[in-house]
Amino acid sequence: MGYEINISVKNLNETKYLAKVFVLTLKVPLLISLKGKIGMGKTTFASFFINHLSKEKVKVLSPTFPIVNTYKLKKLEIWHYDLYRIKDKKEFFTLDFDIALNNCVLVEWPELMEEFFPKNRIEIFFKDEESDLRNIKISLLGSCTNYYKEIWKLLKKKFLIY
Ligand SMILES: Nc1ncnc2c1ncn2[C@@H]1O[C@H](COP(=O)(O)OP(=O)(O)OP(=O)(O)O)[C@@H](O)[C@H]1O
Ligand SMILES: [Mg+2]
Repeated sequence: MGYEINISVKNLNETKYLAKVFVLTLKVPLLISLKGKIGMGKTTFASFFINHLSKEKVKVLSPTFPIVNTYKLKKLEIWHYDLYRIKDKKEFFTLDFDIALNNCVLVEWPELMEEFFPKNRIEIFFKDEESDLRNIKISLLGSCTNYYKEIWKLLKKKFLIY
């Protein structure tokens, strides 16, 4: 059970606003899965998200090679995973995911390991693109349905929701 919200983000600035919406509503612990094919904007979203939370400018690199990067900010820790290169489940269990889940977790390419994810999570699916436009589906799963009203209100300010 969950709620779905579909929006179109027209450019980077709007993706930045989208990241802000999730920062403004954030209650730790939280896992956000970032789905969608290569080059859709998952790392870009993560970078906006982390920078909205940080006082200083943070250079957010794709965690494709380290698989996980952590950002220890003043009030919280963000664990940013990219599971694209994970070969087997054993490797995944060496990555302190259980510790990460007490904090704020962003996961790119979550599909392979989704069976081990908490039911209560948010999924942001970059469905398709055209130039700088991204069609995005947001799914609020499990108890994250509680975010619905607040997120919807903030999204409505900028986006047409369908
Ligand atoms: N509206 C938009 N939102 C996000 N990215 C955008 C948008 N418009 C253009 N872009 C560009 O698309 C690219 C997205 O790259 P990014 O590394 O974020 O993709 P990714 O989904 O993380 O890919 P990968 O699967 O390789 O990790 C960037 O160059 C970014 O500037
Ligand atoms: Mg990426």
